[in-house]
Amino acid sequence: MKKWSERFSEPVKEIVKKYTASVSFDQKLALVDIQGSMAHALMLKKQKIISAKDLSAIERGLKKIQKEIESHKFKWSINLEDVHLNIEKRLTDLIGDPGKKLHTGRSRNDQVATDMRLWLREAIDHHLLKIKALQQSIIVLAEKNIDTILPGLTHLQVAQPISFAHHILAYFEMLERDKGRLVDLRKRVNLLPLGAAALAGTSYPIDRNYVAKLLKFDGVMENSMDAVSDRDFLIEYNLAASLIMTHLSRFSEELIMWASPFFNFVEISDGFCTGSSIMPQKKNPDVPELVRGKVGRVNGHLIALLTLMKAQPLAYNKDNQEDKEPIFDVVDTVTDSLTIFAQMIHELKVNKNTMESAALKGYATATDLADYLVKKGIAFREAHGIVAKAVRFSLAKGLDLSEMALADLQKFSKHISDDVYQVLTLKGSLNARNHIGGTAPKAVKNALKKAKLKIK
Ligand code: ARG
Repeated sequence: MKKWSERFSEPVKEIVKKYTASVSFDQKLALVDIQGSMAHALMLKKQKIISAKDLSAIERGLKKIQKEIESHKFKWSINLEDVHLNIEKRLTDLIGDPGKKLHTGRSRNDQVATDMRLWLREAIDHHLLKIKALQQSIIVLAEKNIDTILPGLTHLQVAQPISFAHHILAYFEMLERDKGRLVDLRKRVNLLPLGAAALAGTSYPIDRNYVAKLLKFDGVMENSMDAVSDRDFLIEYNLAASLIMTHLSRFSEELIMWASPFFNFVEISDGFCTGSSIMPQKKNPDVPELVRGKVGRVNGHLIALLTLMKAQPLAYNKDNQEDKEPIFDVVDTVTDSLTIFAQMIHELKVNKNTMESAALKGYATATDLADYLVKKGIAFREAHGIVAKAVRFSLAKGLDLSEMALADLQKFSKHISDDVYQVLTLKGSLNARNHIGGTAPKAVKNALKKAKLKIK
């Protein structure tokens, strides 16, 4: 039973030790913690706060510790509370007195803030690569499906025919914005807290810019109180992560729908599905369902972090230790979901014929008939009414507009002639929407070209 320090007359209670220790999860920060310590030690030596001999002992010790951690030989102890104290104690055990000098001009408060920023920076860079890989899968699938037509839906009702490539390129755009958000918030992550010490700064002649440079930060945090207590960067990241997961959940929902026998638009390859323990016929789209489900925990963590920071007085408070588990979980969830999604899209089978016959069913070209009448000089609102009547008539006959006899169509407007059938076809409808952002195959080809340039 050891006292926390000589200030105390009693040891920390076992139950308190367990409650307050973070080493079981913050050991994830070990390598960035060592990275931060190396830079701090180099600065201490440059500023003549420690000697060259001390520095080389510290470097030697930290390298050894890094190897121990990487080979899983490092013995973590809950008695040493967190990753920082575990490493510092081991350093002193290894190299003796110089190890006790590493914490000069530093506090765990600026140390942990630095660690989180270094760790998250790596995670963000990794996410950016993963998003690009998914965008690449989308592009490959889109290229094969420029002329594949499916019914575009609004309110889940048939609206207008859409190129399947155009449809999935919508997700490319969402992911492009996700990258933009990560790149933008990375600027606010990439600032150095170290030097703030506990909260007020330090009386040693430190060089914060030098440490920032060594750790590849873009600059230093301007205010020591803010530096140790700010967790905005984690909240911002979590929000960006929530949006990534939201986008994946939308895509998931469509895949689940499309893979159902009622749609049968796509086939998710077997490797991504499971069966049922009771119903032998089942093939369940577990992966997109789980992605959809995992949005819950990511959004939950966002609320946890917002609540953690709400009304927190300056400067560091132990509350902030609670930032880690949510963020670690968000990073893992987003990484895994992006990885598995890219592979699933890569192997997705598209049932072009089913899509096309569905597009032929729900009067998807009704707007085209209205536009046709407008081009013949009828006001749009009037044309809309004419086509609504024609749809009602053909619904009763069980026919599609394109299947109606010319004489029948002409009952609704004398402006209709036999050129009407060109606009009533799916291809005609698609081709007509030939502008930036439209679904005409020509426009989609251009969109694909631009998309490819964006992920180069
Ligand atoms: N484990 C702590 C955390 O994650 C490190 C900082 C502790 N600082 C302190 N003053 N107790 O926030």
